[in-house]
Amino acid sequence: MKYNEQDLTEIIEGLSQKQKSLPSKFFYDQKGSELFDQICELDEYYQTRTEAKIMTDNIDQITSVFENNTLLIEFGSGSSLKTRLLLEHLPNLSGYIPIDISKDHLLKSVKQLRFEFPDLEIAPMIADYTRALTFPPIHRAVEHKVTFFPGSTIGNFQPEYAKEFLRVIADECGQNGGLLIGVDLKKEEKILYDAYNDSKGVTAEFNINILRRINREFDGDFVLNYFDHEAVYNSEHGRIEMHLICNKDKQVHIADKNITFKKGESILTEYSYKYSIEEFAALASDVFVLRNYWTDENRLFCVMYFDVK
Ligand code: AVI
Repeated sequence: MKYNEQDLTEIIEGLSQKQKSLPSKFFYDQKGSELFDQICELDEYYQTRTEAKIMTDNIDQITSVFENNTLLIEFGSGSSLKTRLLLEHLPNLSGYIPIDISKDHLLKSVKQLRFEFPDLEIAPMIADYTRALTFPPIHRAVEHKVTFFPGSTIGNFQPEYAKEFLRVIADECGQNGGLLIGVDLKKEEKILYDAYNDSKGVTAEFNINILRRINREFDGDFVLNYFDHEAVYNSEHGRIEMHLICNKDKQVHIADKNITFKKGESILTEYSYKYSIEEFAALASDVFVLRNYWTDENRLFCVMYFDVK
């Protein structure tokens, strides 16, 4: 079997640490992306619908910050209601570059968007945006570049990487550039706990699916029901921590490597950081200045617009 060596190295390195971990980007194979779509529909998972409502309620103000000849770059699949809303209200874009790690998911949404927006140049990029990026060329003149990074995916980066990533975005967007970003806000712990421990078990299935993927793509032999989903809020760090807890002593093989698990040991699969508006503006402040923000009446979520410094 031929493995992606860089991915395999990241997996083995993560599982060789004292606190075993797996990079959360491995969640998003076809099944993982479908499960994530189901998470977004859950009653407990308020993020998606709250962000969509904030955007719908404020779309005229939000799009008023966009100037003519803007290239819109989106991190994420671009299949969402939020993308459509933006595209519908921005008829003069120079082009649109949706970037996603999940090829089938991305190409499917691009096909649909091309049908709905036939005059818009759409140049999809299949990429792992935790690694270096080179954008495809766009035919129309570009005077401004604005990155759209919805869904609070920035929360899945540890703050120091989030800062680095914001710098990459600012460098790429350059002078006159901007960033429209969705950020999940700090709130009552019970709301956060329920959002990551939903009653239907979809988040648990999403979490376990990372092991299924490693079994398939890296010749692993994880027994899925030896691992249990756990998500807790760490108030000291302001983050949800998602784990898979091993319920048996077990040796696991991945490619030609052995990993030993003790009963009770966990694999950390994801952090999801929550910020106050001030905290996030401060995190971005090396490279961005907050121009405006929009939030919901319960202050669960925030959409922020930043100018490159
Ligand atoms: C993609 N990201 C913003 C989600 C989150 O809430 O951190 C991923 C997720 N993990 C569990 N549920 C959703």
